[in-house]
Amino acid sequence: MITLASPAKVNVFLRILRRRADGYHELASLFQAISLCDHIHVALADQDHLSCTDPKVPTGSSNLIWKAVDVFRAHTGMYFPVKIHLDKHIPMEAGLGGGSGNAATALWALNCLSGANVADDELQKWGAEVGSDVPFFFSTGSAYCTGRGEIVRSIDPLQNMQLFICKPPKGLSTQSVYAHLKANQLEPRNPDRCLESFMEGIPVYFNDLEETAFSLMTQLRALKEQLQTSHFENVLMAGSGTSLVCFGASDTAFAPDPSFFTCQASYINRSSGEWYNIE
Ligand code: C5P
Repeated sequence: MITLASPAKVNVFLRILRRRADGYHELASLFQAISLCDHIHVALADQDHLSCTDPKVPTGSSNLIWKAVDVFRAHTGMYFPVKIHLDKHIPMEAGLGGGSGNAATALWALNCLSGANVADDELQKWGAEVGSDVPFFFSTGSAYCTGRGEIVRSIDPLQNMQLFICKPPKGLSTQSVYAHLKANQLEPRNPDRCLESFMEGIPVYFNDLEETAFSLMTQLRALKEQLQTSHFENVLMAGSGTSLVCFGASDTAFAPDPSFFTCQASYINRSSGEWYNIE
């Protein structure tokens, strides 16, 4: 049996450039892996089985873990049954890439268990067949992602940052946020310049999906304002929401509604040849 941490991600900035003819959106985003994580246990078994600590998580074929297993089997021709248990901590419909990270982690686990010895960059390509955010997790944990998200360039680790994450119970589906986005009405920032600015030590935090998500769920805008009033300097929605990520420490205590998901986290990176090591 193999047990691996499956991290979440945040988008330090997320620029949406245009809607493509295939319905996806061309984006440019600085992705960062964080210490909030699930744990995945994978073992060889007599038949396929997926269980999860959270009863709300679907364990059938719609779960991205099974899509990853199918992709691994199709590419390697290896069809051994597996028993997988998912210890879930990352909220769903949160924009934190929980399901995508699970799929990437499952690919890594199957590669280890099977002895197939597939190279990281090949697993990364297979990940793109599962979902746009899956390839990122095969980076070093800090990456500039373009295309629909699947073109991944690892960058030097960012200076670590204390994070506070806050999410109301209601989620938003990625598909619906993108469907409502008016990509031609966004501020025409140059994302390459944003990355350069970051590397020069002048961070720029923004998310082009924020306004659309706020219009679909007004409670989110109010929550962002509340967090900013609590003296979090940079508050940003993660991916397509509905998590809000506060970068840095606050000088005032914030007491959210008790029904909200909250956690503290930090940036994490991984070394070549190893998966994410999170204490
Ligand atoms: O690739 P993935 O299946 O994770 O994408 C989920 C949905 O998010 C897509 O069906 C699409 O509606 C939207 N999406 C998009 N542009 C992207 C990534 C996702 O429009 N770059």
